[in-house]
Formats: sequence, C-alpha cells, structure tokens
Amino acid sequence: MLRTLLIALTGGWLISCSSPSTSNDNANETDHQMTELPLDVHSYARPNFARITHLHWIAEIDFTNKIINATARYDIDKAAAADEIILDTYGLNIESVVDEAGNELAFTIGEMDSHLGKALRIGLGGETHQIAVVYSTQPGAKALQWLDAEQTAGKELPFLFTQSQAILARTWIPIQDSPGIRFTYSAEVTVPNNMLALMSATNPTEKNESGTYSFEMKQPIPAYLMALSVGDIVFKPVGPRTGVYAEPSLVDTSAWEFGRMDEMLVAAEELYGPYAWERYDVIVLPPSFPFGGMENPRLTFATPTILAGDRSLTALIAHELAHSWSGNLVTNATWNDFWLNEGFTVYFEQRIMEAVRGRDYAEMLIALGQQDLRHTTDEMGTSKDSHLKLDLEGRDPDDGMSDIAYEKGNFLLKTIEAAVGREAFDNWLKNYFERHKFQVMDTETFVEEVNSELLTTEELRSEVRLDEWIYGPGLPDNCPEITSARFAAVDNQIEAFGAGSGADELATTDWTTHEWLRFIRGLPSELTETQLNDLDQAFGFTNSGNCEILAAWFQKTIPNNYATADARVESFLIEVGRRKFLTPTYVALVEADPSKEKARAIYAKARPNYHSVARGTMDELLDW
Ligand code: BES
Ligand code: ZN
Repeated sequence: MLRTLLIALTGGWLISCSSPSTSNDNANETDHQMTELPLDVHSYARPNFARITHLHWIAEIDFTNKIINATARYDIDKAAAADEIILDTYGLNIESVVDEAGNELAFTIGEMDSHLGKALRIGLGGETHQIAVVYSTQPGAKALQWLDAEQTAGKELPFLFTQSQAILARTWIPIQDSPGIRFTYSAEVTVPNNMLALMSATNPTEKNESGTYSFEMKQPIPAYLMALSVGDIVFKPVGPRTGVYAEPSLVDTSAWEFGRMDEMLVAAEELYGPYAWERYDVIVLPPSFPFGGMENPRLTFATPTILAGDRSLTALIAHELAHSWSGNLVTNATWNDFWLNEGFTVYFEQRIMEAVRGRDYAEMLIALGQQDLRHTTDEMGTSKDSHLKLDLEGRDPDDGMSDIAYEKGNFLLKTIEAAVGREAFDNWLKNYFERHKFQVMDTETFVEEVNSELLTTEELRSEVRLDEWIYGPGLPDNCPEITSARFAAVDNQIEAFGAGSGADELATTDWTTHEWLRFIRGLPSELTETQLNDLDQAFGFTNSGNCEILAAWFQKTIPNNYATADARVESFLIEVGRRKFLTPTYVALVEADPSKEKARAIYAKARPNYHSVARGTMDELLDW
C-alpha cells in the first residue's frame, strides 16, 4: 500500500505531467466539447458535468489477503461549472484522493444501495484535471474470484480473474461505471513470483523476473470491459493476429481447439469492416468462470467447458469476437438497450460461422437458438422483460440477461434482413459500425436509423413491425421459421426411437454436437430406466466430456430419476461454475425434489467454487 501511495504522490505524476497528451490520443472528447451522454440509472456518475478520459492504474495483487491495493489516477474532462466528479464504488476502502499537485481533495461517500453501491463524490478546484484515488478492495469484492491452488488445473499456484459486466467494475476500481463513458487506460500490476498478469489491453506473452507487468489500452472503452487475470498462465500463438493463454497443462489443447480463430477474424472483417483492436487473444480460465465467454477487448475470457476436443463449441469464440464490433465498438447506451449488444452479436456470430463452416452448419446453430427462444417466450408470457427495450431501473441489470436480448434480438435482425435482402442489410450494418464506432447506441436511435435507411417504404415497415418487436412482449408472428435439413434427419431418428427402435439401430453417423443436442432435447420428457440405459449404453452420454451434451442429458436423467447419472450430476456441479449450466440443472433437481434437500446438499459442496454472480442466482433459487 505504501508503495502505491508513494508512486501516486511522486514519480507517477511526473511521467504523466511531462506527457499529458499521450493518455488522450484516442479519446473522443477534447476539454471543451463533451458529447452529451444519456442518463444511466445504474451509475451515480454525471458525465455531462465531469467524466474520466484516461485511467492509469497501479496495483499490487495480494493473494494472501485476497485484496488489491491500488492507486487509480484519472484524467478528467469537465464542464466549466463542474465542482465535483462522481465515481461509482462498491465495497472499496477509499484511503485518500489527491490532485495533480499532490493536494488532498475533499471527498464524500454516499449511502449504500444494494445494486449500485456508493457514490464517491470528489470536490474539484477550477484547475484540477487529474485526480488519484488510493484504495483497496475487500476480500468479497463481487467482480473478483480468488481461486486457491487446488481449484486450478496445475494445483500449485492460486488464480485470480475479474468479471466486470454489467456493473461490477466498481467493486475493484472506483470508476464511472456506465457503458456510455469511455476512457483509455494504462496499468502497472505487480503479482507474486511465477505468475503472469493479463488485462483487456496490450499483454505480455511471458512471465518476467520483477513480477510487475505494464499494460496499455489505447482505444477508449467503457468500464464494464476492464478485466484482469493473474495465475500460472502461458501463451501459445494460433495465427498471425491470434493466440491463447491458459494454464500450462491446457495451452496445447486450447490452441488446437481454437485453431481456426484467425480465419474467424478474417471472415468477420470481410463481413463488417476492419478489426479495431489489433490483436485477438483468448484466455481459457478455470472452470468456475461464471460465463461461457466475456468479450474483454483484445483478450476474450473463456470457460474451459468449450474444450470439447472436436472444435464443436467454438461458435462461442465467434460470438466474443463479434463483440469487438457490436458492443465494444458500438456500445449499448444503458443496460436497458442490452439487446443492441447481444442481439447484434448473435446475428454476427452466426454469420461468421456460416462463412467458416457453411450454411447447413450455421442453420443448426440458428435453429437451436430459436428453440431456446420459444421456450423462453412461452415461459415469460406477456412479461415486460420479454420486450427488447428493457426497464431495469431499481433492479440488477443482470436480470436483463435472457434469451430475449440474445435471440429475440437476433431474430429481429433476421426479420429485417429477410425484408430488405442480405446485401442491403450487410452494407447497412457495415456502415453502422463505421459511423458509430467508439460511441453509444440506444434503441430509439436504432429505430430511427432503420426506418430512415432500411425500411424506407410503408410496405417494408408493415412487413417488419419494428415497434411490436421492440416494445411488445413475446415473439411476433412474422418471425422467420428456421428449417435445418440436418435437424430434420435427427428428428426422424427421435421418432424411430419413440416408435421402439433400439438406440444402437439409429442412424447417427457423423453427428456433431449440435445434432446430439437436437436429439437429446427432442427425446420424450418421460423416459423409462430401460430407455435411458439403452441410450447411455449406445452413446455414452453420462460419461461425455462435452459439457453441452452433459447438461442437456441431465434435463432428461434428473426428471426421470435415472440414478446412474446422479454421481456425474454432482461432480459436474462441483467442478463447473458456468451459470448457463448450473441454473437448469439445479432447477431440474428442485422440480424432482421440491423439498430442495438434494439440490441443497450438492450446493453446499459446490458453492465455495462459484463466482459471486453464479452464487447470487443459485442462492435465490435454493433459498440459501
Ligand atoms: N457479454 C456476455 C456475457 C455477459 C452478459 C456477462 C451480461 C455479464 C452480463 C458474453 O458475450 C456472452 O454473451 N456470453 C455467452 C456466450 C454465448 C451466447 C455464446 C455465455 O456466457 O454463455
Ligand atoms: Zn455476448
């Protein structure tokens, strides 16, 4: 702590003061023109008065106490009348705040809100354009997951990773945590011996002796894309612009699994224009990572559950890569516009997959998505949460993370594409990314632009029915129906099985993961022990190394009390912390045993391994 404080008060400033322009090279705003930003109900910041434009972060990662000691130094842009700047914080210990001359600045910390945390209001003099906040995190900081050595693949060194989206950056950095507020950043991070630190920035590829690593993110990004990983991590290149980071025992497997990443990058650029972030690397994290992937710029964070051994789950990489345009370049203005990030990204992901793997392959992915969507809209009924434009005021933005944003969003874009034709749509989309790069987009502006640039006739407008899609519930009846020839063949086999064919008589040669998923999902909901055994003997589902297949299989084994899979369900829930798998599996356990006894017994063992965002969801589900 003392060391970071000293840097903030002495040498650190000198570097910054002698070359103040370097930190602002790519920022959009100058001191005098501030682009107007929309009000974000999930942030205390008031960026139209004062906003951060650059962060220099100096941090020491303390694995013993599970805390980060840091100094966050900011360049500030402010309106002439602004006499304070407001940062978001959640559970941070703020030690002091100083200006560029080293003078202490007065600050106040507001009331605690359970979603938003506390506002940190810092008084600014007229000439103050830089501030430094000296602070530390708490061991329970929600964005951070500190893993003990036993929870890693190597079992020798601990591991730390962050997950900032949607509003958790404020639990490890005092920051203006709103997707509209962009800033560049640089960092110096000190970690224990033999560990490598990585961020959503320029990254080292090797450990060094000093244990201090430097980072730079020259393109302005919003706070939810701040990211850090520390562990026994090594690098392996995949293509000229791509590579993987992982623990040593996983790096070769990972590099093989993602062997076509460069091709995806080229395909993406051919579709929608140049990649803005120079390199694209992926880090494969320990299995407790709560998501499939997170689009941290230059360095996607990914779950190891996509290492299927056959490259069949790499659409997830296409998805996170696509966010380099939809999300990271053109960013949802607030979390109520979340579908603009995710719906566009699913659409783009599927276009990349079509380019790399062919149309019939992409059709399987699209059809699986449509199946998920119909399931979700059936469940949600007329709930307002099934509108594309959300109203998350007073709630955790995490509540908006459903198939609506992803799949309803995707199918709206497909409906527009079908109406105007692919060529016109592609040209428009490419132009959209170019025109709005490094800026925010809100739903209303999207509607305006689509109406004036694509749906230019009354006929087209009534064919698409934009308002119904965006401001109405459920799935409009003009949603294109997806047919997949390969799935039609699978459906025949499901029928044959239902009619009494043995599992080993079914025609399953050359099926990919997607066909297996279609097959398992399509099996009758009631299955006898004999049938489940027959399937398991023929296809080895219970022992599958493919997490998607396992999770789908559990949806059949749990409701039908197929005891053979019980041990595998338990070990899966203890090992894997990816929420997308946890939620349906625990829900199935609770439905099969409404006393929740069985589910809670497993959860008691598994919970210590989960990240806070997964814990939050499961705690609620299991009355923890
Ligand atoms: N950005 C999301 C993950 C996210 C969303 C984290 C909202 C926190 C709040 C990421 O791009 C994502 O969508 N991940 C999916 C991947 C899938 C759709 C291919 C996941 O984790 O399952
Ligand atoms: Zn996404």
